[in-house]
Amino acid sequence: MPGPAPTLLPCSRDAEARVADVYARIKDVIPPMEWPGYAPEIDAIRALKRERNAVVLAHNYQAPEIFHGVADIQGDSLALARQAADCDADVLVVAGVHFMAETAKLVNPDKTVLIPDLRAGCSLAESITAEDVRALRAAHPGVPVVTYVNTSAAVKAESDICCTSGNAVAVVESLGVPRVIVLPDGYLAHHVARNTAVEVIPWTGTCEVHARFTGAEVETFRARFPSLTVLAHPECPPDVLDAADHVGSTAQMIAYVRRERPERVFLVTECSMSDNIAAELPDVAFVKPCTVCPHMKRITLPRIRHALEMLAPRVELDPDIAERARRPVERMLAVG
Ligand code: 13P
Ligand code: SF4
Repeated sequence: MPGPAPTLLPCSRDAEARVADVYARIKDVIPPMEWPGYAPEIDAIRALKRERNAVVLAHNYQAPEIFHGVADIQGDSLALARQAADCDADVLVVAGVHFMAETAKLVNPDKTVLIPDLRAGCSLAESITAEDVRALRAAHPGVPVVTYVNTSAAVKAESDICCTSGNAVAVVESLGVPRVIVLPDGYLAHHVARNTAVEVIPWTGTCEVHARFTGAEVETFRARFPSLTVLAHPECPPDVLDAADHVGSTAQMIAYVRRERPERVFLVTECSMSDNIAAELPDVAFVKPCTVCPHMKRITLPRIRHALEMLAPRVELDPDIAERARRPVERMLAVG
């Protein structure tokens, strides 16, 4: 278990001056009253990254002070996995959840991979065990197992290939088979089944954040804001996806907003997504009946600093599980 939350660094006008470039980027989404608390942390993390030859990989759901303040690599699960594989730093700090840090370790077995809070889990990763996968295989002999990256390394080790929300359909189609098992997210499996001719056998996991949205909620906002563009993550229930204008991974949603510049947009996903893009695109209006992922929010600036100071908590994997889990991840990365 992690120790008590690290004490905040004292406010410092010198630190604020050194990181003024960051505040210029996020001033529209971080109130001025909050900034003196963040600035010394960002300043200290920048210095520690240089000292440790470290990079911070931040998922799109990280709070703006992390995403815009200290991240060297930002993206969805697929981008983080790809860029972790290409990384030449000695230390990788994953500002995301535990399965993302495990994936970074799988593709960088000789590097130090840190997760600032070991409790940063995921309801999907919790929904299935390696034993469940073995039972599914026994029930469907010969059917390949396509495993969402939101799973433990032990579950990946039982799988044929991994996928993310950004490439699930392409991964399934790359196998050239009539039936696949897609686990653990039942809604993602449903989305894949609707976008390919391949028969999909699902598991019953759900994301506690996306499963809360409803199609009725989307329609209420459409009625209130007729020009609204709705983008939804494939972990949402089918009625939400039916009500959306576009379905995609977090990175695909960001790309859509950058490209199309909708006047007003509802991102049916975790709250920080809207803040992170709003910082970059102040002309786009975001309606925000979003939901917070409590696991993502365990990662804070003081915990990132503390991880870099202590070089802990580290992600370590059982060598046998790591060897078997690496193959489906690398196979996914080769799909392109
Ligand atoms: P993305 O791969 O789309 O970023 O999704 C990861 C995730 O955890 C969504 O809840
Ligand atoms: Fe897991 Fe959902 Fe949080 Fe993503 S948003 S990390 S799927 S619980």
